[in-house]
Amino acid sequence: MKPKVLVTREVFSETLAYLNSHFDIESNQEDYILEPDALIERARDKDGIICCLTDLIDKRLLAHCPRLKIVANIAVGYNNIDLAACSARSVMVTNTPGVLDESTADLAWALMLSAARRVTEAQSYVDAGLWKGWHMRQLLGVDIHHATLGIFGMGRIGQAIARRALGFSMRVIYHNRTRVDAEIERRLNAAYASKDELLAQADFVVLQLPYTPQTHHFIGAMELDKMKASAILVNSTRGGVVDDAALIAALKAGTIRAAGLDVFENEPQINTGFLELKNVVLLPHIGSSTEVTRRAMAMLAARNAVAGLSGAIPPNLLNPNLFG
Ligand code: DGY
Repeated sequence: MKPKVLVTREVFSETLAYLNSHFDIESNQEDYILEPDALIERARDKDGIICCLTDLIDKRLLAHCPRLKIVANIAVGYNNIDLAACSARSVMVTNTPGVLDESTADLAWALMLSAARRVTEAQSYVDAGLWKGWHMRQLLGVDIHHATLGIFGMGRIGQAIARRALGFSMRVIYHNRTRVDAEIERRLNAAYASKDELLAQADFVVLQLPYTPQTHHFIGAMELDKMKASAILVNSTRGGVVDDAALIAALKAGTIRAAGLDVFENEPQINTGFLELKNVVLLPHIGSSTEVTRRAMAMLAARNAVAGLSGAIPPNLLNPNLFG
């Protein structure tokens, strides 16, 4: 008998075909978000779950799923999954690192460029029929080239963001739990800075930290106060890394110049304070959303599930301790 696997959201046809050839699949191709009780109901007799960041895999769900052996997240971030609880029940957890680095870095840059050059604000201005002709001070923005880029989190995506900065002749500083190799620093022309140094010096503060209890509100009122009044904050990693209420207050007061955001606390019910501001670019969590990347993410999650349920160690296992 084939293992039973739940696919919690829509996936591409090639992924579904691959999964169908290995598993007895129940899939939510209608793509509505499964509320916790509905998710449990569908998962209770499954050997595997292929899920997304909208699915909460917590102790309660695990308690209802005695057969569960693997949870394959279609995302690199996995704050929707209680990893410790999965490990305690010997449930493997996997994610999809690597395949989304470049697309996610592109999107962080899209936010930097849009916030600096007021792209979405300018589009709204044109859409509203307010453009009556060229003038000298029209929608003045700030330069990115030769500015200082500060990156919190210098993993693969942080490095991809820094690499793009070389083409803009930027000065790059970064802060990370551990300093990256000297060779990487040299290649990226990036210098290590303390959190406070980065906040004080960067014209663009870009966040690439995972969301954990330690990074909750990593940027709050105190940090925003330490940034330059001309600085732009970009968050395309996870909501909760920034205190959204504090950011709205700072953007209103002009403590910082602008922000570009792809992620929020309590998505998709974002703090409505953002909607009243002109100096913020708001996107609906599309960091990895390109045709090629999303297909690669879905396929990688499927491969992780196939490996895990056929007795192999999945390539992107987050709890390798299960294998001793
Ligand atoms: C990730 O992989 O964590 C992304 O946010 C999903 O789009």
